[in-house]
Amino acid sequence: MPKRWVRGNRKDYFYLKAKEEDYRSRAYYKLLQASQKFQFIKPQDVVVDLGAAPGGWLQATRKIVGSKGFVLGIDIVKIEPLEYPNVFTIVGDITEPDIVDRIKAILPRQADVVISDVSPHVSGIWEVDHARQIDLANSSMHIARSVLRDKGNFFVKLFQGDLFNSFLNRMKKSFADVKVIKPQASRKESAEIYILGLGFIGKDILGSSCEI
Ligand SMILES: C[S@@+](CC[C@H](N)C(=O)[O-])C[C@H]1O[C@@H](n2cnc3c(N)ncnc32)[C@H](O)[C@@H]1O
Repeated sequence: MPKRWVRGNRKDYFYLKAKEEDYRSRAYYKLLQASQKFQFIKPQDVVVDLGAAPGGWLQATRKIVGSKGFVLGIDIVKIEPLEYPNVFTIVGDITEPDIVDRIKAILPRQADVVISDVSPHVSGIWEVDHARQIDLANSSMHIARSVLRDKGNFFVKLFQGDLFNSFLNRMKKSFADVKVIKPQASRKESAEIYILGLGFIGKDILGSSCEI
């Protein structure tokens, strides 16, 4: 068995911790660590979680926003409902043209934060997986730009590769401050990396012709 496969699939510290503490995924800790450090989700926030299944980020987000916040999770697979009255989930494809309208119809007001952990089914062909991930990140950015309030925040997963810098530059056009983050709970050997956009520069300022 290739060493890399074994390394990537071993039951590591955060995997076991998530099991023990009854969280739905080890990803729970990635969001919590990033948010604790950069404070981009706050109590009472309205948050949209893209690619939310099985629900680790929903659990982390609900913990931060509390009972007066609002959390909406979207995934192409059904998410087992959470026990909180202010956490909602829908089955949806973030690349579908009607997804923004579907999200807006559920939100109580413009979102304070959009988070995206969306990943494609990996083919094993690096260039293909990287390009698919960038496509999904672009769809996430389009949604963020459509539902965020002015000065809202956007946290998105990417795979490192050739297309990374051009995505980063597009982020810089839409957010006042952009950071590249590798949370401690993200495996060092994984190519995943997160970009945090703080302070959405509203559509009015950018104009409708701004490319995502
Ligand atoms: C790494 S998982 C997310 C884990 C999640 N953040 C958590 O904490 O449990 C990536 C998710 O992206 C979803 N996904 C992939 N393509 C999608 C699409 N086009 N629209 C919506 N969700 C998608 C997958 O179904 C998968 O559940």
